[in-house]
Amino acid sequence: MLLHQKASCGHALHSAGRRSNRAAFKCFSSHTTPSVPEALVSTRPVHELKSSLADVAKACNPQQLIAEAPSSVGSNYTPWAVAGGVALALLALKRVYDTPSRTYNNNVGDEYDAWTNEGILEYYWGEHIHLGYYTEEERAAGWWKADFKANKLRFTQEMFKFSGSQQPKRILDVGCGFGGSSRWLASQFPDAEVIGITLSHKQVQRGTELAAERGLNNVKFMVMDALKMQFADDSFDLVWACESGEHMPDKKAYVEEMARVLAPGGKMVIACWCQREAGVNGAPPLSPKEQEDLNFLYEEWAHPFFISIQEFCRLMQGTGKLEQVGSEDWTPQTIDSWRHSNLVGVLDPWFVVFKWNPKVWYKVTREIVTLERMHQAFAKGLMQYGLMRAMKPAKVVQEAGSSGSTSSSTSSSSSSSSISSQESQAAAAAASV
Ligand SMILES: C[S@@+](CC[C@H](N)C(=O)[O-])C[C@H]1O[C@@H](n2cnc3c(N)ncnc32)[C@H](O)[C@@H]1O
Repeated sequence: MLLHQKASCGHALHSAGRRSNRAAFKCFSSHTTPSVPEALVSTRPVHELKSSLADVAKACNPQQLIAEAPSSVGSNYTPWAVAGGVALALLALKRVYDTPSRTYNNNVGDEYDAWTNEGILEYYWGEHIHLGYYTEEERAAGWWKADFKANKLRFTQEMFKFSGSQQPKRILDVGCGFGGSSRWLASQFPDAEVIGITLSHKQVQRGTELAAERGLNNVKFMVMDALKMQFADDSFDLVWACESGEHMPDKKAYVEEMARVLAPGGKMVIACWCQREAGVNGAPPLSPKEQEDLNFLYEEWAHPFFISIQEFCRLMQGTGKLEQVGSEDWTPQTIDSWRHSNLVGVLDPWFVVFKWNPKVWYKVTREIVTLERMHQAFAKGLMQYGLMRAMKPAKVVQEAGSSGSTSSSTSSSSSSSSISSQESQAAAAAASV
């Protein structure tokens, strides 16, 4: 464009001829050099000269030149302009993806309602919305060859073994999702009563549908807050909590409530994403970068905060109701789940694509980023996968002996009032959650 401008300016000045004015000459001299002598030799009439001078002025208008400067210099600077534009766009995109979109705000039930409605989580993860368990052999052979959904079921089976529970009769699944663990436990123990609680109405609905499809009539789901459970003390001989503690705004109340409803002799087992111990017992405090990474992980998926495995154990011991408190870090067994989640989506993106909904597409891209950031936090040791267990001491039953002495025996049975009778009270209370 600049070259074109120069050419028109030169041509107009040439037309202005010998009697060209100073402005035209100035324009000419500032934009061209070799044509000055030609400009001085024209013999054209004055009226043509006037109009030509107007052309000169137009062609040499500095404001126009300045306005057109960016495109004029395009041939030299285009790659830089494009690179700059791309860099700015990437920075803006990074900012959008670094800003958490689902901050915890008593919104856990709503978020799970939305996830359940979309169906995406169930489509890719199946009925178990927790991480999978990868054996050493699978990890050695390559996690991507493992069966993603089958490993989630294996996790449930391993968690049950870890709990130490043998033949539970009354089972509570705290934060049950749409009930993968509850249904598995109900199918393994047909004589047991299983209750799953969640904050999501949609999960209760979906969990109930799936139980009916499987012909399971010993499992029920209800909306109920784990921090204010409507069950009587000592009600369940297995209290199970798989990946619900992450969402609890009061971890102490969470542990205490579960210890309260656990029956004497019963087992409690918790699986939870934990952050590393920091600032206590010689553990270094969190660095600003670690805290920033954690803040994103808290806030993107409606988590108030995480605690460490050790802190969970301290809370369990602190109830004064539990014994044999123990824990394990299952990061090696579970970490591959994060990247495997993204892989299953990449291999089969059509369920999401055919939603034809840009909002859903955007949300899914955020999930991909968060899954990878979770993987990195676990890989760096900032996060750990905690398994915690404990039991409630069995009651000592005092029996009067014939000689006036007493003998004692232990009882591990749960409270004599049946869960079914408590349910009616609980269901009424739960409806108000
Ligand atoms: C990641 S899902 C885990 C689901 C399920 N345990 C599983 O393994 O498939 C978290 C669950 O915790 C539940 N939850 C979170 N906070 C809760 C609370 N205060 N009371 C009851 N359930 C809660 C959510 O509603 C959701 O069902």
